[in-house]
Amino acid sequence: MNDQNLDGPVTLPSSRAPGCPFDPPPELTALARRGEPLTRLAFPDGHVGWLVTGYDAARTVLSDPRFTVRPELRHSPLSRPNVRPGGHDKPPAPGWFANMDRPEHARYRRLLTGRFTFRRMKLLEPRVARITADHLDAMADAGPPVDLVPAFALPIPSLVICELLGVPYDDHAFFEEQTTVAVNLDNTSEQAMAAIGSLARYLGDLVRHKRTRPADDLLSDLITETDLTDEELANIGLLLLVAGHETTAHMLALGTFALLRHPEQLAASALDETAVEELLRYLTIVHLGGPNRAALEDVEIAGRLIREGETVVLGLPAINRDPERFTDPDTLRLDRADARHHLGFGHGVHQCLGQQLARIEMRIAYRALFDRFPTLRLAVPVEDVPMRETAIVYGTWRLPVTWD
Ligand code: HEM
Repeated sequence: MNDQNLDGPVTLPSSRAPGCPFDPPPELTALARRGEPLTRLAFPDGHVGWLVTGYDAARTVLSDPRFTVRPELRHSPLSRPNVRPGGHDKPPAPGWFANMDRPEHARYRRLLTGRFTFRRMKLLEPRVARITADHLDAMADAGPPVDLVPAFALPIPSLVICELLGVPYDDHAFFEEQTTVAVNLDNTSEQAMAAIGSLARYLGDLVRHKRTRPADDLLSDLITETDLTDEELANIGLLLLVAGHETTAHMLALGTFALLRHPEQLAASALDETAVEELLRYLTIVHLGGPNRAALEDVEIAGRLIREGETVVLGLPAINRDPERFTDPDTLRLDRADARHHLGFGHGVHQCLGQQLARIEMRIAYRALFDRFPTLRLAVPVEDVPMRETAIVYGTWRLPVTWD
C-alpha cells in the first residue's frame, strides 16, 4: 500500500511491522493519524467503499440503523486465494443473527441476552476458576516448556462454552480444527465453506439428539422454551460455539504474550478488570476487516457522503488507538481508567453477546497463570512467535513458554 495515495482508494492494510506484533499495521496507523476518520477503500471485488479509523465515526456507524449487516448487501473486504470478483455473499442462514438487521435480529437477541448477563455469567466464575486450575496443573506436569495455546489458552474458553451450550467437549479437536480452517484467509472459500458445513451438520445432529434427551444446558433450554426450528438452533449453537472459543482463546494467548513483553507493567498490575479492558483495547483481536456494514441509503458521516450500497469497514485496531479518544494510545497502561470505552466488542445492537463471559475468563485466567508461574517467559525469541496475520481473529498460532 506504500505507493498509494492516502486519500485512496487504498487496499485494506493487513501486515504488521516486523517486531511490532501488538501494533496495528503501520499503514493503518498512518491512515488513522492523518486527521480523517474515513478513507476510500478498494475491495478485492473492485467495489470502492470506506474504511473508518476514527472512534466517533465508528460509534456513529455502528449505532445507525441505516447501515445493514446483511452479507448479500455488503462487499467483503477479506481476500481469499480464489475470491470471485463481484460476488456477494448469501443471505444469512436461519438463526445466524450476527448477519441480520432489526427486527429479525432483535427477535433472536431477546431470546439470548438474558442468558448472557453479567449476573448470569458471574455464576460461572467458580467453574471457570476450577477449569483454569486443572489446566495449570496439567501444564506443570507437561512442561516446561509448553505451547500455551493448546495447553491453556484454547481449552479454557472451549470447555466453558461447551458446558454452557451442552456440546460434548470430547469433540473439541474436531470443532477447533474446523474453526481454524474457516477463519484462516489463506484457505480458499470452498475450504472455508466445507469447514462451516461440517460444523453445521455436527450442530444439527446435536440439536436433534437434544430434542429427545434435553439436559441442563443452553441449547436444551432453547429447545424446550422457544419455538425455534432445528435449523435455527443449530446455527445459533454454531455461532456461539465458534465465537465463544476462538476469540477468547486468542485474547488469552496474545494477552499473555503482551504481558510478558511488558514486565514492568505486569509486575505493577493486579490483572484486574481494568487491565483486561486495556488488553482488549491495546490488542483488538477482531482485526482484518473488523465488523463491516453497507449503507441502505445515502448517509453523511464526519462530512463524507456514504452512498447507498457502499460498504463501510470498521478498522477496529486503529479506532481503539485513536489519539483523540485515548491519551498516548500506543502505550499499554494496565491501569488506564477509560480503557473500557474501547470498541473491541463492537458497539450498538450487534455488540458482543459473550463479552461478560470473555471478561470473566480473561480476568481469572491471566491472574491464575501468573500466580502459578511467576517466572513465566517465552521459550523462543520474540520474532519466532508465529502471528495469526491471516486469520480473521488475530493472535499467535503457537506461544512456547517456559518457567523455573
Ligand atoms: C459479536 C468481539 C467473545 C459471541 C462480536 C463483535 C465483536 C466481538 C467485535 C461485533 C461484531 C459486529 O458488530 O459486526 C469479541 C471478542 C471476544 C468475544 C474480542 C473475546 C475476547 C465472545 C464470546 C461469545 C461471543 C465468548 C459467546 C459466548 C458473540 C456473538 C456476536 C458477537 C453471538 C454477534 C452479536 C450480534 O450480532 O448480535 N464479538 N467477542 N463473543 N460475539 Fe463476540
